[in-house]
Amino acid sequence: MKGIYLDHNATTRPHPAVIEEMCACLENGWGNPSSSHAHGQEAKRILDRARAQVAALIGADPQEIVFTSGGTEADNQALCSGMAVAQPGTLLTSAIEHSAVLDTCKALVTQGHGVHILPVDSEGIVDLAQVAAALEQPAAMVSLMLANNDLGTLQPVQEIARRAKAHGAIVHTDAVQAAGKIPLDVRELGVDLLSLSAHKLYGPKGVGALFVRRGLNLPALLHGGPQERRLRSGTENMPGIAGFGKACELAMSAMKARSDHSRRLRDLLERSILEGISGTRLNGHPEHRLPNTSNLAFEELVAEDLLMNMDLEGISVSLGAACHSESRKPSPVLLALGRSDAEARSSLRFSVGESNTEEEIHRAVAVITAAVRRLRERRTR
Ligand SMILES: Cc1ncc(COP(=O)(O)O)c(C=O)c1O
Repeated sequence: MKGIYLDHNATTRPHPAVIEEMCACLENGWGNPSSSHAHGQEAKRILDRARAQVAALIGADPQEIVFTSGGTEADNQALCSGMAVAQPGTLLTSAIEHSAVLDTCKALVTQGHGVHILPVDSEGIVDLAQVAAALEQPAAMVSLMLANNDLGTLQPVQEIARRAKAHGAIVHTDAVQAAGKIPLDVRELGVDLLSLSAHKLYGPKGVGALFVRRGLNLPALLHGGPQERRLRSGTENMPGIAGFGKACELAMSAMKARSDHSRRLRDLLERSILEGISGTRLNGHPEHRLPNTSNLAFEELVAEDLLMNMDLEGISVSLGAACHSESRKPSPVLLALGRSDAEARSSLRFSVGESNTEEEIHRAVAVITAAVRRLRERRTR
């Protein structure tokens, strides 16, 4: 499909080498990796290789990787299973987590767990003093995303993990958006649990992983067979896992080039809009953020109108998390930053990726500039 795709935080197009790996797995690695015969062992070899590739991306041991059906399942397992074994206390999380975390927290509250939602500052960063104050009360777990999907803002997870661990809490981070875009090391971060999703890093949808630090014994969420060390029963999604492994291998080798490319194009896009179109402003932190993400407010406009205008011209952008796009509510992330309803409704998320070019950015800027002018003129008529 032609068009200019500037929505890489929603999903990415699978890399050709990923597709190749998945097809090869379907053709030659279709055995059940739990079978002891040759067909099973060939599948097991593919599974082991993918596990090692995913582990390498985050500095983990392969035995610490549990394959899941995606980031949502990894978040659910981290919080539900984590709270089942954590010391007594509340679960600390932030107001701008993905719904896979916030809705799981709501479910945990109905089960009698305490949840404390930490606010963020006007640039989307959790205040360390607030974390320290919250840790004065008994904390069972801390779950903080590494990078926010709407803003790209990075949280000081390493520092917060250090403080939380000193209080005996289990630490989880949702690294779904960060993985593949910035270097990650679970030991440096000091986390016990970390969620990943393949489709955000040029892998397939419906597959992800949870890093579970060695020595942390979690109960299963899905019960059944002995797969994934009994932590996640069910015959493995082999083509998905093979593709995920390949995507992680590519992300490692191309991280610097991808990140430089994204930053250059993102900055070009952002600068052109902020300097060329009046009444625009950046949402989120200008520096502490992913290299590919820019969330911009267009004063006096309803971003949905702008998005539709751009879509008609073949340019795909978003209002924020894909899972909120149907609710027509303003982004809860922007409201948490203290933006008004109108400001939140006037904001668009641009997330660039590997295949974008400078020409595409120039074309996108021209389309946005013309659409903003048209929409503003219509308002004043
Ligand atoms: C930060 C974050 N966490 C979790 C998820 C959910 O991942 P998945 O789509 O693999 O379930 C997403 C997807 O948008 C995300 O951005």
